[in-house]
Amino acid sequence: MAGTYNLEAPGPDRSDTIAGLRVAITGGTSGLGLALVHELVARGARVAFVARDRDRVERVTAATRAHGIVGDVARKDDIHPIALQAIGLLGGLDVLINNASSLGPVPLRQLGDTDCEDLELALSTNLVGPFRLTRALLGALCASAREGRGAVVLNVSSDAAINAYPGWGAYGASKAALHHLSRIWQEEMRATEPYHCAGAPAFGGSAAAEFSDEAASVGVHQGMQGVRFLSLDPGDMDTPLHALAVPDAEPATLKHPADAARELIGAIERALLDLRSSAQGRPCESRGVEAVATACA
Ligand SMILES: NC(=O)c1ccc[n+]([C@@H]2O[C@H](COP(=O)([O-])OP(=O)(O)OC[C@H]3O[C@@H](n4cnc5c(N)ncnc54)[C@H](OP(=O)(O)O)[C@@H]3O)[C@@H](O)[C@H]2O)c1
Repeated sequence: MAGTYNLEAPGPDRSDTIAGLRVAITGGTSGLGLALVHELVARGARVAFVARDRDRVERVTAATRAHGIVGDVARKDDIHPIALQAIGLLGGLDVLINNASSLGPVPLRQLGDTDCEDLELALSTNLVGPFRLTRALLGALCASAREGRGAVVLNVSSDAAINAYPGWGAYGASKAALHHLSRIWQEEMRATEPYHCAGAPAFGGSAAAEFSDEAASVGVHQGMQGVRFLSLDPGDMDTPLHALAVPDAEPATLKHPADAARELIGAIERALLDLRSSAQGRPCESRGVEAVATACA
């Protein structure tokens, strides 16, 4: 059952694109998601984050001025309560970051030894949950696009979406599907009339844009109609998820989640600036493929 924690934030610094942005992040209590919460709040964004563990949600809420929502994106019944709380707490939505993730079986197992339930968990958390949440929030994102603010859905990907690493079957298959889903969201939005989603129901609609691909990288899919879908690999990071997957990895060789968070926020910022230029009839400046990282996991 999804529940809410709330803490009033002081006035944001409105000196950059991120200031005042309304952002929802799944998996905001650890690793990359926590780093995104910290960085976005520091830059003046209004942030709501989701995670399952109530104690950790309370701790992060108290420490960051973000709004914490207790919920499980893998549970169908939690999705609309999460979406309604996020929209209510933020007064709308400009950016959704689908970051929460499951490895499937832990320790990682070859497919022949993977229980169906572990595959289902990876798919529910990494694919079906982000799909459901995106659908539930699409009306709010389209409203932001209609207002000329631009809207972005960032699906956090992995190079396991592209490369067939033995032992990463459940996770890799779910991330590959999420990556492809992002491409299709984009194509469907591109195929619609400008701001088609203006008339879309609050819990439905379609989304946006032009897709380019680059060998061995997870690229950015750019939209023309105000909502842009990004699918980005943050690279190998020193996080609890990575430690579960590769227990003997040397932390010093891994990226700091804060660095990955800043790179992802940079990609969101570029997408928003591009969308706002388009909305004002100016030529888009950033149409190329962007790759945040190409490392394993
Ligand atoms: N770490 C890497 O090297 C690496 C590399 C490539 C891509 N990635 C991707 O980067 C993203 C972040 O990974 P990370 O390493 O930062 O993970 P992490 O440290 O394990 O953090 C995962 C976060 O998601 C939450 N979460 C997990 N399952 C959830 C669910 N069903 N519903 C709601 N929240 C849930 C966790 O909190 P609760 O447990 O309390 O719910 C936690 O806040 C993931 O999409 C991952 O696939 C990571």
